[in-house]
Amino acid sequence: MALPFRGLGLHPRSAFCLTLPCLSFPFVSAYSLAEVEQKTLEFRKEMTTPIPIAEDASEFEKFRARAYETAMKVPVKSIELYLDLRGGIEDHVLGMEKLLPDLDPQERRVFTLVLDLNETLVYSDWEPETGLKTFKRPGVDAFLQRMSTLYEVVVYSDQLQKDVEDVVKRIDQTGRIHKLSRPATKYRKGIHFRDLSRLNRNPARVLYISAHALESFLQPENCLDIKPWKLETNDTELRDLSPFLESLDVVRPADLHEVVASYQGKDVVKEFYERCKQVQRAIEEQKQQQQKKRESKWWRIFP
Ligand SMILES: *[C@@H]1O[C@H](CO)[C@@H](O)[C@H](O)[C@H]1NC(C)=O
Ligand SMILES: *[C@@H]1O[C@H](CO)[C@@H](O)[C@H](O)[C@H]1NC(C)=O
Repeated sequence: MALPFRGLGLHPRSAFCLTLPCLSFPFVSAYSLAEVEQKTLEFRKEMTTPIPIAEDASEFEKFRARAYETAMKVPVKSIELYLDLRGGIEDHVLGMEKLLPDLDPQERRVFTLVLDLNETLVYSDWEPETGLKTFKRPGVDAFLQRMSTLYEVVVYSDQLQKDVEDVVKRIDQTGRIHKLSRPATKYRKGIHFRDLSRLNRNPARVLYISAHALESFLQPENCLDIKPWKLETNDTELRDLSPFLESLDVVRPADLHEVVASYQGKDVVKEFYERCKQVQRAIEEQKQQQQKKRESKWWRIFP
């Protein structure tokens, strides 16, 4: 059993535990779920892609490669089973925990704005040589500074806690932004879902904004999708989004679900702009009608 875990950087004991998910879980917490996942990722990836066999390989070499591949599928499966099981148990335990502290009764900001991190506020890429490299989306500092005055702002990401802390520190000038990371997500079938039900906030007053809203959130009825940022230097999405969020704070609808439903499947920025133009036209028409009325009254004085 030593072979598949070589080079994973795991303590032999935990490597052994990985192969015995049911027996070992209750006694092992040396590694967080996220750490186990991270540490085994490369191995699992490598082992699920077929090993290339040269055309001119001997029958014996082909046989050996296939046998190795088949043998390796077992540990991969058991790691995945372990991750799912442990994820399930941790969910159950964590499920009773509130992710955010109770709302301060003095709090004047009515809504909670939950923002995704990667491709929404920043772009983070992991490279073996340099580690995690993060780039700020154009306008992110001003956006967060403004939104923090209107909303209770939460960054909710599937990245590791340390990385989220580091990145948010660099984009949050207010120091008031709540940070939720991978341990606060719900792990299902390889995806770390953001989960509103544990947020400790009234769901009618929560808005999620993400470039991957529908893939990574358990409550799509609270999610608005925006354009993902992949390092384009001419990106204006955050700046364009601000008027929508500003007006939401002014209007303060009773239930944000209705707002989200009316924007679902649409480009928020464009749709908001169109609606503003419609309102403007309606106001203009009304003004013109009032003007006509005033004029006709005026003329009636001189029949
Ligand atoms: C951010 O998103 C990009 C594109 O989907 C992905 O390649 C990258 O690994 C992500 N970064 C992190 C830290 O998850
Ligand atoms: C940014 O530049 C790309 C390519 O130069 C262009 O296709 C895109 O429309 C531009 N986006 C904006 C928001 O101006």
